[in-house]
Amino acid sequence: MKSWKDDPRAETNPLFNDNKLKLGIFGLNGIGNNMSNAPETPNATWEESERVSRLAEQAGFEGNVPYSRWRGYVEGDDAHRSGLALDSYTWAAATSQVTSAAVFATSHVPTIHPIAAAKQCATIDQISGGRFGLNVVAGWNKTELDMFGAAMKDHHDRYAQAAEWIEILRELWSRDEAFDYDGEYYTVKKGISLPKPIQRPFPPIMNAGGSDRGREFAAKYSDMAFVIVKSDNPEEMRRETDAYRRLAREEYGRDLQVWTLSYIVQGDTEQEARDRLNYYVVEHGDDRALDGFMNMHNMHSQLMPKDIMEAMKFRLKAGHGGYELVGTADQITQRLDNLSQGGIDGVLLSWFSYEDGVNRWIKDVKPRLAQAGLRKA
Ligand SMILES: Cc1cc2nc3c(=O)[nH]c(=O)nc-3n(C[C@H](O)[C@H](O)[C@H](O)COP(=O)(O)O)c2cc1C
Repeated sequence: MKSWKDDPRAETNPLFNDNKLKLGIFGLNGIGNNMSNAPETPNATWEESERVSRLAEQAGFEGNVPYSRWRGYVEGDDAHRSGLALDSYTWAAATSQVTSAAVFATSHVPTIHPIAAAKQCATIDQISGGRFGLNVVAGWNKTELDMFGAAMKDHHDRYAQAAEWIEILRELWSRDEAFDYDGEYYTVKKGISLPKPIQRPFPPIMNAGGSDRGREFAAKYSDMAFVIVKSDNPEEMRRETDAYRRLAREEYGRDLQVWTLSYIVQGDTEQEARDRLNYYVVEHGDDRALDGFMNMHNMHSQLMPKDIMEAMKFRLKAGHGGYELVGTADQITQRLDNLSQGGIDGVLLSWFSYEDGVNRWIKDVKPRLAQAGLRKA
């Protein structure tokens, strides 16, 4: 089995470069990755996406990943800002023109037909010169899928549909002759899609399933899988990341990158960082969004067991349960090193104030990561 370290897609796509710890910026197409009404959080405008994506060029991140959201979390408040999100496919096409990072679209399976999705992905791969990646999500918010008249499937069937969807995409991306597909969820007659993506055999796939079924799906189809880090201990993390890699290797003969999600608050002192965290999570925290999210999650998703979700309320508001990177540049570097020792290949980063956060990162954290041997200078 070939390692992703020898992946030919490295020619165009920085996701396959040899930085020990890869990084991406997450959530710029929406209101960021927190539940806060602090005025510094973004508002899903293209102007902010463009400005921060250009700034992040100096940070040299490998990826820029949007989320996919069709409606907000707060029942009874249809215009709540948690529903603000630019469409991720068109956003990725535009963002590819202002960054040299890999650009992703995040796509719900049931909201787009695989033939349309395959062509959109191939188009963005062409526009970006082979830097596109697709984050496939099966969906977790029933009310947003209800808007499509697509009754949300039970958890198992959701992933069974996602498997058919991705198999059709792969055929469309790689086959030069038309094919028929007769599945339980999709029927394709004489399917063909031209032109092909630049990346061969197809652009990288990311998946963030948290359940056993989600993990199976990611191990079988994805190049980048996510874990929500539940412990600070690198050995415990290593057990989880190794288990993931083993599953992909032994069951499917594949080698995947394991990523996680983090929120960052940097200060000149730890106290300053804690005060800033408190400012956006406690003083300006959006408890209505948190309640809505908890309800939706507990009903339809298995990302985390319910008791862990309860204990994670603060982290959910701070960054959807991501790993905490709060403190001085030295402390943040230390914790990123911790993740790397725990077997994490990449981290998706979010800030409550992206511009301020990325500026501080470029000045203080970036040089320390090079010194720590985690990334090239
Ligand atoms: C990094 C990351 C990004 C995600 N992005 C989205 C998203 O944009 N839209 C969405 O509906 N779900 C998103 N999810 C949720 C997952 O798709 C998935 O439903 C969730 O992790 C629960 O896992 P399960 O489906 O295996 O139960 C994301 C999860 C993670 C960890």
